[in-house]
Amino acid sequence: MKQRFFFGGNGLKSAFVVALSGSFPPGEKEFIQSVRLFLDQVRDPELIEDVKDFTAQEGQHSLQHKLLNEAFDRIGYLATRVSEQFEEIEQEWIEKRSDADRLAATVVMEHITAVMAHFALTRPEEFDPLPDSVRELLLWHAIEEIEHKSVAFDVYEECVGDRNRLRRQLLLHMILFPLGIRDFQRMLLRELGHAPTWKERGEMARYLLGPRGLVVSVLPRYLALLKPGFHPWDMDDSHLVEEWKDRLQTALN
Ligand SMILES: [Fe+2]
Ligand SMILES: [Fe+2]
Repeated sequence: MKQRFFFGGNGLKSAFVVALSGSFPPGEKEFIQSVRLFLDQVRDPELIEDVKDFTAQEGQHSLQHKLLNEAFDRIGYLATRVSEQFEEIEQEWIEKRSDADRLAATVVMEHITAVMAHFALTRPEEFDPLPDSVRELLLWHAIEEIEHKSVAFDVYEECVGDRNRLRRQLLLHMILFPLGIRDFQRMLLRELGHAPTWKERGEMARYLLGPRGLVVSVLPRYLALLKPGFHPWDMDDSHLVEEWKDRLQTALN
């Protein structure tokens, strides 16, 4: 990857991807740790196996995103600094929270990730302007996020089960997470000395808020977690996992 504004020549969209990628390694570390806090209370042997697979997948995502972040650093972004700052904020948050709140936050973030993964795999043309290495990493990550989307939720159901706590975390994270990403996006561009043009702003706004934009597309699925009795597999998108594993395999051969 050589081009600094690698997402269709748009600085804002490129910094958005860098900010997201920067947040993944510390975020995924906390996903693993918060689920492990409850592992000795899980009785279902199948779920214990699922937790092991979940941990292995998140560990790999974290590693691959660290490598991608280093590649972003090489073309001038402070992607690794995003990870460091994200981790500091996260640590402060963790210190003040109960284990149940930590797990609830992980369930919510896994839900956000799965909903965004569904968007990525059903609207892959959105990623066409990206360099192959970034595009393939995001698609692979999306496949595995759908594959393990209910693991943290199932641990929560078995060990905590308080839906109102989940709802509170959902409402909190639907505000805090986008604001955090926006702040990192601004920091990255400021450090690059790049002031976004009106064209870039318009494209970014359309990408997020347009009639077929990311926010409009994911919001109904995101809010489904508020429904009584919701389970992540109520929205069965497992066919996307099989279909995309084949497609990526063919593309990589
Ligand atoms: Fe992940
Ligand atoms: Fe995940």
